[in-house]
Amino acid sequence: MSEHQQLEVELGDRSYPITIGRNLRMSLCESRDRFITEGRKVVALVDQGLAETNTSQINEFLSEIPYLEIPSGERSKSVEWLSNGWDFLASHKIDRTGVLFVLGGGVSGDLAGFLAASYLRGIEFVQVPTTLLAMVDSSVGGKTGINLSAGKNLVGAFHQPSKVFIDLDLLATLPGREFSAGMAEVIKYGMLGNILLYKKLSELPENLSYQNQELSSIIYHCCLDKASIVRDDERESDSTGGRALLNLGHTFAHAIEAVAGYGQYLHGEAVAIGLVCAFRLSQKLGFCGNDSESQLLTLLKEYNLPTDLKNPLPVEDLLDSMRSDKKVHKGCLRFIIMKEIGRSFIEESVDLKYIKEVLKSIGAR
Ligand code: GLY
Repeated sequence: MSEHQQLEVELGDRSYPITIGRNLRMSLCESRDRFITEGRKVVALVDQGLAETNTSQINEFLSEIPYLEIPSGERSKSVEWLSNGWDFLASHKIDRTGVLFVLGGGVSGDLAGFLAASYLRGIEFVQVPTTLLAMVDSSVGGKTGINLSAGKNLVGAFHQPSKVFIDLDLLATLPGREFSAGMAEVIKYGMLGNILLYKKLSELPENLSYQNQELSSIIYHCCLDKASIVRDDERESDSTGGRALLNLGHTFAHAIEAVAGYGQYLHGEAVAIGLVCAFRLSQKLGFCGNDSESQLLTLLKEYNLPTDLKNPLPVEDLLDSMRSDKKVHKGCLRFIIMKEIGRSFIEESVDLKYIKEVLKSIGAR
């Protein structure tokens, strides 16, 4: 039997439900069948790794519909795979009533979302995230896109899914390193705006894992926070905070990923180091005085997340990369700073000296 919780991303006529639980296989198949009963064509885009490891769980869903497998990894967020996706949809004569389900992590979700946003100027899509990171972050909120050689996510669109199914059973085969990477984004929610979540994570008697009974409620609270941020600032246009706060630690993280070479760090691992940087930068600016750095480091280390660089990277290269990040606003580097853990804001002009000091503190040279 499936037990689940549901919440709504409230965006007027583009509102949609997020269903979170275990054993949602039946609900997913019912959703597919409802579309088919309405005479709509349903297709899917599936992460290849998932198709290989999780066959019994997803076979039933895929058995009734055409699907395209996407190689796992960031390189699939490319013009080439977008074009393969367009051809796939066209070859199955998907019209404007067609529905695209996506089963996979952030890479497949971002690619499929942009495919759905661009094909026939927009078709419906349903997110079925299969990594912790996608469950708490990328499957919710409608950011879709692909990478260019000049940088990550440089081409894309806001296109909201019509449903999100978060089935914790799909985490059973997620490698431990990927689970930990997702935990970095969970910890981020606590740091940016939810002190109760942060405290809870710090005080849990044992680490969260796929089997842990608390996991569902923690994912629910992350999604609730994200839904409320997205409701108030869907397009990240609030220059005083809003959706941009979700990028806590990400300016550092994107630079680390780019300079180290994509694949050296999982995104969540770079975010973990980015959270340490954001904390230290906040302290240099006179905030987070009553918060403990060692508590943060302990929490990250409990999930085997890095808190400094594996190999030194040049400070100047990291700064250059930060300057080309799409979070640069009117030519200024913006950072998300915490007044204290659980309360954050955007700072537009941070003295370069502090950024360099923080980068050196994580082992940049
Ligand atoms: N991952 C950040 C956002 O959805 O805005």
